[in-house]
Amino acid sequence: MSTYLKHDEWSIVEEGFHPEKSRDSESLFSIGNGHMGQRANFEEKYSGVTLQGHYIAGIYYPDKTRVGWWKNGYPEYFAKVINAPSWIGIDVKVDGEMLDLATCKILEFRRELNMKQSVLEREFTVAMQSGIQLHVKSTRFLSITEHELGLIRYSITPLNQSVSLEILPYIDADVENEDSNYNEKFWEKTDGSCYHHEAYITSKTKKLDFNICTGMLFDVFAGGNKLTTKAHLVEEDLLLGNKVILNANSDEEIVVYKYATVVTSLDHKVSDLMQVARKKLQDANSKGFHAILKDHINEWAQKWEHSDIVIEGDVAAQQGIRFNILQLNHTYTGKDARFNIGPKGFTGEKYGGSTYWDTEAYCLPFYMATAGEEVAKNLLVYRYNHLQRAIENAEKLGFTDGAALYPMVTMNGEECHNEWEITFEEIHRNGAIAFAINSYIRYTGHESYLADKGLEVLMGISRFWAQRITFSEAKGKYVMLGVTGPNEYENNVNNNWYTNTIACWCLEYTIEALQKVKETNIARYKEIITKTAFDDKKEVGKWQDIIKNMYYPTEEKLKIFLQQDGYMDKEQILVKDLDIKNRPLNQKWSWDRILRSCYIKQADVLQGIYFLENRFDIETIRRNYEFYESRTVHESSLSPCVHSILASKIGKTDQAYELYLRTARLDLDDYNKEVREGLHITSMAGTWLSIVEGFGGMRVVDGKVGFTPSIPQGWNAYSFRIVHRGTALRIRVTTEEVMVFNEHGPDSQIMVYGKPYTVAKNSNIVAELSK
Ligand code: BGC
Repeated sequence: MSTYLKHDEWSIVEEGFHPEKSRDSESLFSIGNGHMGQRANFEEKYSGVTLQGHYIAGIYYPDKTRVGWWKNGYPEYFAKVINAPSWIGIDVKVDGEMLDLATCKILEFRRELNMKQSVLEREFTVAMQSGIQLHVKSTRFLSITEHELGLIRYSITPLNQSVSLEILPYIDADVENEDSNYNEKFWEKTDGSCYHHEAYITSKTKKLDFNICTGMLFDVFAGGNKLTTKAHLVEEDLLLGNKVILNANSDEEIVVYKYATVVTSLDHKVSDLMQVARKKLQDANSKGFHAILKDHINEWAQKWEHSDIVIEGDVAAQQGIRFNILQLNHTYTGKDARFNIGPKGFTGEKYGGSTYWDTEAYCLPFYMATAGEEVAKNLLVYRYNHLQRAIENAEKLGFTDGAALYPMVTMNGEECHNEWEITFEEIHRNGAIAFAINSYIRYTGHESYLADKGLEVLMGISRFWAQRITFSEAKGKYVMLGVTGPNEYENNVNNNWYTNTIACWCLEYTIEALQKVKETNIARYKEIITKTAFDDKKEVGKWQDIIKNMYYPTEEKLKIFLQQDGYMDKEQILVKDLDIKNRPLNQKWSWDRILRSCYIKQADVLQGIYFLENRFDIETIRRNYEFYESRTVHESSLSPCVHSILASKIGKTDQAYELYLRTARLDLDDYNKEVREGLHITSMAGTWLSIVEGFGGMRVVDGKVGFTPSIPQGWNAYSFRIVHRGTALRIRVTTEEVMVFNEHGPDSQIMVYGKPYTVAKNSNIVAELSK
């Protein structure tokens, strides 16, 4: 664990500069606004360790695949989120010496990510090698109201003498990806213009023709007055800027207001990009930095009103959940159905910015309850729009007749990941996509989504399972061979319990969905049957046979579900008995050793129990939880949240709390020693779940939302807000009682500890906390 950041309810704070953590901090202080996001790189030059990162939603690069041995079925490319041209740069020379935190002496340093406002601030005092002392303060944000805009206020104050300052605000299109298979640069410049206090570069990706324009416009103020002296245009090939040379008196604050924009061909005509960018910046400049900041802060206040979770009495826990909610809202706003949620969001290159099963398995409930039903629906429609590609993906692997295998990793519906054990075998992802349709309908009550789009997706998925599952004469049962379950620390296993279970659940749900659509919308039903050439009798007959005769591995003595065939043959040394120096295993052990060990990367059997909880009695949940928790190393960020929810379910609130901290502070405390790569965005939705579904015990059953709250020791109270079927409910749990308040919307029928209540508009109900 790493603990160099201060605990604070509303801020992430680094006091004193930690150059050895510079990449960690760049990840942790990342900002974003759904359209774009960036790591917390410095404005001024920094020659220390850094990963430059500016990312734009929907813009990626199909990097040519690189593998050891090519295997038929591999995709031709691996999509990469591209590091985009940077607009934050402001070089500062003081009496000819470059300001660089890696070379000057740092007297004071403070960095703060103000979570309430989504504003990144940095303040430091340095002594240059010449002895000149300087105080610098920067404020940066990506506007949430005008999502193509980013703004910086950067002030420089010489402290002990008058100095000559050279200030160079610029944009830099000479950027590269750390993760590039052939060390290629992914962008080429197409045009550029530089004017007095303005610069614009248009760039195009070398493949796929994404075009963007990155622009900047700035003003400099000295002693409160705007400087109008001519700037020197700096026009290097890929770097355009303006140099301003001035004398600053001791204690005189020089302020640069830099307005930047990133506009793309996803939203504008390519030929208009430069013009649009210039107009945007001129409008922004007339409105002014402070007015734009004010709108930004107001919109963030709204976001917090909808999504905040308040924890009283535990600052570390409070900071953790707010950090997670902030970063989720930085990544995806749901305003644009073309986008999705990459596991690292806009905070690093790993995972290529692509869509994983994480979205459906973890993120959907957060956005559904806090951002609205439409946003959640957009996430489902994204997959509907990729159905044809999922069918082609399955065809590539030899499946036929409309079987659909959704990709493990995708940008546009095509698979773009190439490790056979994941690409070909981690097929459980199909289950999460089906499950999300069910969750959406269960939560919103919008049954018509099935006829509209959901059923077609379910049919494609079920057709896949029916072909992927085979019959074992030896067992006299259906089996599923050669898969990788959610636990990626084991590949090519037979009969992964989770995959077998979710596959059969998909078959059952598809049969139910077919029936529902047939009963409620026969015209659409017929249309779908014809479109998909569906043989109702034959296909449903086969599905029913599989459901009835599926094989599920179990451990009879321990009365648990077995993760896969042969799991008990492994040497069973529990995590608690493993010397800590071996952790994280994925950085300390060979892959071979990991594969042979009993250690589990992430919730696997428990993922299935979590999804399908109502099928299992509490003792079954307890036995499986205890067995698997003691063997799980949680080296996937997606793991502790599921374990935490189940621990709450079985009344192990202390363990639920430990696991909560692990998910909520995974990045802040760098549990898995990898935050330098970027943040774990998708698992942050799991953190939200571990409070709402874990401690809050929220479930939706038969259209009613219900709660079975518990409270961790040391918390005085916690509260969260959800919108369910048009009613905004605020739930507050103290050490004594549970209060549910109907903030707006129709009266709501809810359950608390299984007892029904009606919460009328603007009123609340109170129940005693069950202990
Ligand atoms: C996990 C996967 C997950 C991916 C992206 C991997 O480490 O094992 O389940 O989809 O990360 O978050």
